[in-house]
Amino acid sequence: MAQVLVTGGAGFIGGHLVDALVARGDRVHVVDSLVPQVHPTRPDYLNPKATYHFADIADRGTLAKVLPGTEVVFHLAAAVGTAQSMYQVDHFVRTNTLGTATLLQSIIDQKVRLRRFVVASSNTIYGEGRYVCSKCGPIAPDLRPDSQLLQHDWEVRCPTCGATARPAPTEETKTIQPSTVYAQTKLSQEQLTLMLGRAYDLPSVSCRFFNTYGPRQGLSNPYTGLTAIFLAQIRHGHAPIVYEDGLQTRDFVSVHDIVAGLLLAMERPQAVGQAVNLASGKASTVREVARVLMELEGRELPLDQPNKFRPGDVRHCTADLTRSRQLLGYEPKVNLRDGLAELHAWSREHAAEDHVKAAHQELEARGILKG
Ligand SMILES: NC(=O)c1ccc[n+]([C@@H]2O[C@H](COP(=O)([O-])OP(=O)(O)OC[C@H]3O[C@@H](n4cnc5c(N)ncnc54)[C@H](O)[C@@H]3O)[C@@H](O)[C@H]2O)c1
Ligand SMILES: [Zn+2]
Repeated sequence: MAQVLVTGGAGFIGGHLVDALVARGDRVHVVDSLVPQVHPTRPDYLNPKATYHFADIADRGTLAKVLPGTEVVFHLAAAVGTAQSMYQVDHFVRTNTLGTATLLQSIIDQKVRLRRFVVASSNTIYGEGRYVCSKCGPIAPDLRPDSQLLQHDWEVRCPTCGATARPAPTEETKTIQPSTVYAQTKLSQEQLTLMLGRAYDLPSVSCRFFNTYGPRQGLSNPYTGLTAIFLAQIRHGHAPIVYEDGLQTRDFVSVHDIVAGLLLAMERPQAVGQAVNLASGKASTVREVARVLMELEGRELPLDQPNKFRPGDVRHCTADLTRSRQLLGYEPKVNLRDGLAELHAWSREHAAEDHVKAAHQELEARGILKG
């Protein structure tokens, strides 16, 4: 039994983590400011056995109250949303980078003796995933240039010979290339944590979550969570909007596998000082996700495919799980179909408002959507 602080513990992933910790018998404190875009109403899943502090992560008064006696911190509070981060630059840097800095500064100032500090990082810090060129071998290419994408030529090319490159699993050692403000702030969170963890002997682990889905995902927030965005559109009989040609792939992972990985990061010592991928290890196309969700909903709709692209979007990124298997004993258990069926069953009891078209138009007006 441990005293645990979960920042962002009222959120989608944080909420599941709080339940798992409470079930183990841990004493759980949550700091969460209940951001209105994420929580239009108070979440119905707050755990009665956890203690909630509805405050900003950068509120030193709250941290002074909560940190004494804390043994483990899971830092999940963050502004989330890649496209939005490109026009709310100061908000993302303040919440994510300065928020993490304030939390760590408070831990250092108060000399809190932590057993573990686990930070939520993200696959977005990689930029493009790892690829293999049939002539040149493994490559870590840059983002595709706009001039290529304007031709609707979507696949990644080898920087040396120009051949179309084949996607391969992305290891933690791949060059880091954040291509959005959100990704840059997630990298800052990770680096501040691991660097100060080393300097002050705070045993730290950074978990790089890939695209996470499951019950409690915000169904009406058009800026984050592709699975929920599709579900909201399909539910309203609106054709899901797909960027590029819908054949880009992502690594979709169930929130239950993420929580299992976080608990291992708390318990196992081998990953201290390291960043580890938490993912399913499987590639799925965006079209495939739309199709499975339509099947579950019993509705066949055409895809709305305007052939637009968002500069900064990557073509393919799937996790290599060798390191998380070795250091954490992590093994994902939920396959995509079962996981989406669970999300779908949950979503039937929850309102999903479709604000996707408005968000799409907002991105277009701000010049963030091209093509
Ligand atoms: N969902 C994904 O696919 C995914 C992928 C990679 C990384 N992550 C990371 O995982 C973490 C949790 O993401 P999520 O999907 O559960 O998102 P979420 O938006 O549901 O949860 C974030 C929580 O943080 C809270 N919050 C935001 N700003 C705050 C502040 N200034 N002070 C206090 N609380 C604040 C929000 O109210 C929310 O409850 C985030 O750090 C996110 O960057 C998520
Ligand atoms: Zn080549």
